Amino acid sequence: MTKVLVTGGLGFIGSHTAVELLARGHEVLLADNLSNSNAAVLDGIAAVAGRRPVWANVDLADPLACRALLAGHPDLGGIVHFAAHKAVGESVQKPLAYYRNNFGSLVNLLEFTAAHRDCPLIFSSSCTVYGQADQLPIREDAPIKPAESPYGNTKQVGEEILRDAARAHGVRAIALRYFNPIGAHPTAAIGELPLGVPQNLVPFITQSAAGLRGPLQVFGNDYPTRDGTCIRDYIHVVDIALAHVYALERLLAGRSSEPVEVFNLGTGTGSTVLEVIAAFERATGRKVQWSFAPRRPGDVVAAYADTAKAAQGLGWRAERTLDQCMADAWRWQTSLPRPAQP
Ligand code: WQD
Repeated sequence: MTKVLVTGGLGFIGSHTAVELLARGHEVLLADNLSNSNAAVLDGIAAVAGRRPVWANVDLADPLACRALLAGHPDLGGIVHFAAHKAVGESVQKPLAYYRNNFGSLVNLLEFTAAHRDCPLIFSSSCTVYGQADQLPIREDAPIKPAESPYGNTKQVGEEILRDAARAHGVRAIALRYFNPIGAHPTAAIGELPLGVPQNLVPFITQSAAGLRGPLQVFGNDYPTRDGTCIRDYIHVVDIALAHVYALERLLAGRSSEPVEVFNLGTGTGSTVLEVIAAFERATGRKVQWSFAPRRPGDVVAAYADTAKAAQGLGWRAERTLDQCMADAWRWQTSLPRPAQP
């Protein structure tokens, strides 16, 4: 049993990871400043896990606040770092806020791990670092393309910061490159809570099907794919959460093959936008109203993971199907109180 700090622990992937760490018997400390989450998620975590983790309302990009938090936990055995701004479009409008927040919090945490070598760190990275990969499925040694957004840049440079901290200070870390996390906990106690109009496909589908949004706009129908719409690797958030537990335990057991390891978190299967819509309708019996719209700038044609390295290194594979993702996402959506004004 290890005491683990989960930053961004009231967020979508953070809350699901906290639940799985608790289920494994670890002690969980949450740090979250509610910049993209809400405190009620703590009740959901407690409902699933059967116990309520401690939550610190801290801005980890504030060096004094971060140091004060960590000074109170010299026995910390690991950090799973989710806390970051993550909206691609917003990052283009506010690059400096993204760099200050995402790099500041990472550097503050790494200063602690540099002084506490027995406290490794897991970094939340993204398939965004690959851009439009030359080969599919995408392997971890695929070339890193120039970032198409400041958000993507924070993931690419974030991984470089890990490597520099490892070389200079003996920090040990694992970067996990998520493909497209979707779905919700099957209990519907926790799930995705996008602020405002969802930018991502699946929360827009569930809100549209719930009558909170108009018809879905399918961005582009002339891509060189089997049905003309983009292909992505949609992976259940619980599978993503379990991969974090396995990655942490790899680090704690000293099984890493290099100071900073990188693993893809995907299913290895690509689905088009139209196939996602069909899966939602099959899994829920609900119709999705949609129409084609122009392509969205910045979208890559296709991205799906090569999963061999994660299977071998983490002993982990995604197990949940696209239909299960849709059923869980819909159960979560229909469990939410209807907003007065969508
Ligand atoms: C998926 C597909 C859209 C909305 C983003 C981030 C990435 C990662 C995962 C964090 C695309 C299409 C979408 C809509 C649509 N996040 N779409 N209508 O862009 O693959 O990845 O989330 O790590 O960093 O960029 O996900 O869900 O936005 O889009 O047609 O209303 O759905 O064009 O083909 P994306 P997405």
